[in-house]
Amino acid sequence: MGQIASLESWKTGLVTRSGAETEQAAEAFADLLPPDTVLSLSGELGSGKTTFVRGLARGLGYAGDVTSPSFSLLNVLEGRRRLLHVDAYRLKTPEAFDGLMVWDLAKTPWNLVVEWPERVEGRLPAESWRMEAAMLPDGAHRYRLVQPA
Ligand SMILES: Nc1ncnc2c1ncn2[C@@H]1O[C@H](COP(=O)(O)OP(=O)(O)OP(=O)(O)O)[C@@H](O)[C@H]1O
Ligand SMILES: [Mg+2]
Repeated sequence: MGQIASLESWKTGLVTRSGAETEQAAEAFADLLPPDTVLSLSGELGSGKTTFVRGLARGLGYAGDVTSPSFSLLNVLEGRRRLLHVDAYRLKTPEAFDGLMVWDLAKTPWNLVVEWPERVEGRLPAESWRMEAAMLPDGAHRYRLVQPA
């Protein structure tokens, strides 16, 4: 890659060839994502959602490790902004999302990133940003920003 991707190239679909490349791209994406917004991050198992969040968190000034909140369901990563990282895979119902009290933790400036947003249908704001991750047949990963259009 070598250069910072524009919003337009994320909308077209950014292809990366290693986890490190994804992290680097996602780190730069942090500058494109406005504060106090939700990013819904969909894609099949292993498509690279958590890898993306790792870079995003770094771009938001978080220096620690980013692990999947599969069991904790919610991680709070404190950087220049507070990044709330939810993995909804194990949420039994959309109502269970309410129990995480995410909005109470959304202290400005914040971002919320949600893996498996399908599981919390109707719980995220309509104006959420939406990124779709996919694994391509040749082993590369593609990230496409589908909202805002
Ligand atoms: N170009 C790439 N982008 C992202 N990850 C990649 C890439 N190439 C290889 N990988 C590897 O693919 C794996 C992606 O795992 P990751 O946990 O990020 O996926 P996930 O979508 O969060 O999975 P889950 O659905 O279980 O939450 C990692 O082991 C990562 O190193
Ligand atoms: Mg994950």
